[in-house]
Amino acid sequence: MSGERRHLVLVGLMGSGKTEVGRECARRLGRPFVDTDALVEARAGRSIADIFRHDGEDAFRLLERDAVAHACASPEPAVISCGGGAVLSEENRRVMRGEGTVVLLTAPVEVLAARVGAGEGRPLLGSAEPADVLACLAAERDDAYRAAAHVAVDTSGHDLVAVADDVLACLDEVDG
Ligand code: S3P
Repeated sequence: MSGERRHLVLVGLMGSGKTEVGRECARRLGRPFVDTDALVEARAGRSIADIFRHDGEDAFRLLERDAVAHACASPEPAVISCGGGAVLSEENRRVMRGEGTVVLLTAPVEVLAARVGAGEGRPLLGSAEPADVLACLAAERDDAYRAAAHVAVDTSGHDLVAVADDVLACLDEVDG
């Protein structure tokens, strides 16, 4: 499949900027923007916090898997921002890589922690110190992020426009 017809899929930890960078890339590419968290909430008619609280993380992961599959199945090339844990599923990684160019957004844990603030609306951050949770998740998920991504872009010290520049340059390079 040629680059023009593949999705741009953004993955990375909470606070890596997937949603903001994704929106900016979508605007510049003239493509629709899809956020799998928003898709889960729209399809379930409930917030992610509510799903975690009442049904648990496993139930959320199933809804997330359906959302990733749905977004990636769209024939119209889109920019798809995936929730931070979507890469944990081997099936999600296969679908993302099969249908898109997957870009991992990275930043040091202290930068991610500063961006997520108190972690409102992000159940995994709970009541613990966000930097501690993010450090654990970074260690646990590193292999899955690397397995999912075709390329990684460092977002620390760069503004939104510069990160979007880098992502789009990677897209050109990978897709040719
Ligand atoms: C999660 C990240 C969140 C959301 C959910 C779980 C994770 O998305 O999917 O709270 O497992 O890292 P963002 O990365 O968009 O915050």
